[in-house]
Amino acid sequence: MATVLSVSGSPSAASRTARLLRHLDRRLTAQGHEVIPLDVRTIPADALFGADFRHPAIVGAAELFDRAEGVVIGTPIYKAAYSGVLKSLLDLLPQHALAGKTVLPLATGGSPAHILAIDYALRPVLSSMGAGHIVQGWFTLDKDIAVGDDGTVTVARGAAEALEQVVDRFSAALDSRTARLAAAG
Ligand SMILES: Cc1cc2nc3c(=O)[nH]c(=O)nc-3n(C[C@H](O)[C@H](O)[C@H](O)COP(=O)(O)O)c2cc1C
Repeated sequence: MATVLSVSGSPSAASRTARLLRHLDRRLTAQGHEVIPLDVRTIPADALFGADFRHPAIVGAAELFDRAEGVVIGTPIYKAAYSGVLKSLLDLLPQHALAGKTVLPLATGGSPAHILAIDYALRPVLSSMGAGHIVQGWFTLDKDIAVGDDGTVTVARGAAEALEQVVDRFSAALDSRTARLAAAG
């Protein structure tokens, strides 16, 4: 069992990315992990955009990263890259906030043309923050995520299977990490 921080980097109140992450959080919880959700949009804008490193919301977010063994980073693709609000938060964290952590990068987007944005845009930033192990990520088309009136999320069949696989690989990587650390004493 690991502690997983599940970070949605969308500024949108009706975010598909956030809903997808909360949907996937349930799979991780069912596999025995403790999942802590964090929506970047709930962090006050003056803290994020005023580079207020000492703001309690930034300090609190940094503590959540510090506590986590695994981190899911979800972002909408905006202008062929990750969102600006996600970058604003990452900029305010310690340089090596992801050191030793297992990271699952996820993106949602409107165009298959930007399917590689995780690899060319997000992954280098996560590496620069010291991520120990970045598992295979996944880009989900927004049209494949349906949200019902009650907030229930349904993911189109092919996309759902692919997401389950990447989440299960992330979960297995966390379990191996826990076992390795236990063996090392
Ligand atoms: C300002 C803006 C820019 C966008 N740029 C892109 C883009 O470059 N490539 C892409 O695939 N989708 C793009 N999209 C579509 C979003 O990535 C997509 O709808 C995503 O699922 C939105 O996630 P959210 O609801 O969590 O914000 C853009 C959407 C907006 C609002």
